[in-house]
Amino acid sequence: MDNENSRRDFIKKSAALTLGAIAATAVVNKTLAATEFIEKEILADGAVKFNLPKLPYEYDALEPHIDKLTMEIHHDKHHQAYVTNLNKALETIDPNVLKNISSLDDIFGMMDKMPVAVRNNAGGHSNHSLFWTLMKPHGGGIPTDKLAEAINATYGSFEEFKKQFADAAMKRFGSGWAWLVVNKGKLSIGSTANQDNPSMHLDALEIKGTPVLALDVWEHAYYLKNQNRRADYINSFWNVVNWETANNLFTSAK
Ligand SMILES: [Fe+2]
Repeated sequence: MDNENSRRDFIKKSAALTLGAIAATAVVNKTLAATEFIEKEILADGAVKFNLPKLPYEYDALEPHIDKLTMEIHHDKHHQAYVTNLNKALETIDPNVLKNISSLDDIFGMMDKMPVAVRNNAGGHSNHSLFWTLMKPHGGGIPTDKLAEAINATYGSFEEFKKQFADAAMKRFGSGWAWLVVNKGKLSIGSTANQDNPSMHLDALEIKGTPVLALDVWEHAYYLKNQNRRADYINSFWNVVNWETANNLFTSAK
């Protein structure tokens, strides 16, 4: 088997394993977990092309907390646009650099050398792919397992954690994301602007670490249902959080 065929074979096997993992658990087992199952193709010239992953549930599955129309537009239009524009932006990258990119992790690892269009759209693709998995129908409740212990140890109680996370989400001026991250075993809460992700290799990030929980606070995430009432949207989010995914992100990143 020549190199190209063996590379293709490896990619095919990886994709099959990845899809199997999604079907089985919808969970991840590596750092920067959500990016591990982002669908992609390796083109004949070795370049990577990213594809929009399917929502792991129906558009109306998060009703009445997150409405169907918001989910349709958010996933099919906004997320799709990040994927499309990421692929376009990658066409502008030096082929010698591009050949070393086969995942969003690779892009995040060299983000300080990437043009802003790659930063915005790779971030948008990764953040949304992660966000969908951090919600589920009949979700919410309280954190589980090791993450529950760490939240209680760090913040004193789940209620205090929620207050601080909601505060970070409310105070993010303009568009961005609120995060719970783990860094060397330590939890912290913060936010980033635009589509920045705390695991990007960038000096200027306001919070760094591996994402455990993420909340999109762009107006496109809530304006149809909640208009200007971001606080109502944040309250709705607590009813759909997928704490199993968050716990898996936490335990696999430690
Ligand atoms: Fe969004």
